[in-house]
Amino acid sequence: MFSLANKVAIVTGASRGIGKVIAQVFAKAGAHVICVARSEDAIKSLADEINTNGGSASHVACDISDGEAFSSLITGTAKEQGRLDVLVNNAGITQDNLLMRMKEDQWDTVLNINLKGAFHGMKAAVRPMMKNRKGRIINITSIVGLTGNPGQSNYAASKAGLIGLSQSVAKEVATRGITVNCIAPGWIGTDMTDELSTDVREQFLSRIPANRIGSPEDIAYTALFLASDEASYITGQTITVDGGRVIN
Ligand SMILES: NC(=O)c1ccc[n+]([C@@H]2O[C@H](COP(=O)([O-])OP(=O)(O)OC[C@H]3O[C@@H](n4cnc5c(N)ncnc54)[C@H](OP(=O)(O)O)[C@@H]3O)[C@@H](O)[C@H]2O)c1
Repeated sequence: MFSLANKVAIVTGASRGIGKVIAQVFAKAGAHVICVARSEDAIKSLADEINTNGGSASHVACDISDGEAFSSLITGTAKEQGRLDVLVNNAGITQDNLLMRMKEDQWDTVLNINLKGAFHGMKAAVRPMMKNRKGRIINITSIVGLTGNPGQSNYAASKAGLIGLSQSVAKEVATRGITVNCIAPGWIGTDMTDELSTDVREQFLSRIPANRIGSPEDIAYTALFLASDEASYITGQTITVDGGRVIN
């Protein structure tokens, strides 16, 4: 169950945090994983580690906001491997500021990576997936895209946009055996959240019914399920993985 044997998966943002663990979990499930991020050393050492442990992985350094480079990475991978089964658009950044202080550059940078990057990835991935009449696209959004968050209007807009983008594409490709879903993590312990002060951490924790910070594995196993053959009737959905935060 939930095997990815003989499948080819591209995972963006694989140099650390959630994306790194998704790549490790997919490889353990039998996929050949292409690890993508800008930090070449980190993705090379992840691919080496996966290969040493009996899995199968390669790496390609790419800035996913460079549409041409990201598209040709996907097209090239599908050609080289003869197929593309799974694309996980996980790469994302924050550049927080209150709206009144937010620079246009902060808006553009966050939207270009978090939303436009996923657009480029999905656009390139659906062609080989349509050819195979099968595919899985998984976009990592955030609960902030569902609720908003002060100081994160650019990030929340990018993550809410990702949900609308996913729902629209899900409708376009559903008859071709391709599913498009989002995972909306709550607070997950990674570099992105390690910067929070003790006060903010305690305040956040008090609002999580599960009373713990999530782990990258919590997201990776959800991604594994959505990537599997068993999830073929789930599309256009956003699965919240947040210890109950948004219901509180
Ligand atoms: N951690 C959380 O609590 C949380 C909550 C909700 C949603 N999320 C979402 O989950 C995803 C992963 O978050 P994380 O916590 O694992 O973040 P992270 O530890 O900061 O890692 C972000 C990853 O994205 C990559 N990346 C950033 N910009 C890129 C670009 N232009 N091109 C290619 N790769 C790029 C980074 O690699 P390089 O720097 O090497 O390029 C890194 O591998 C993000 O989309 C984030 O918004 C996280």
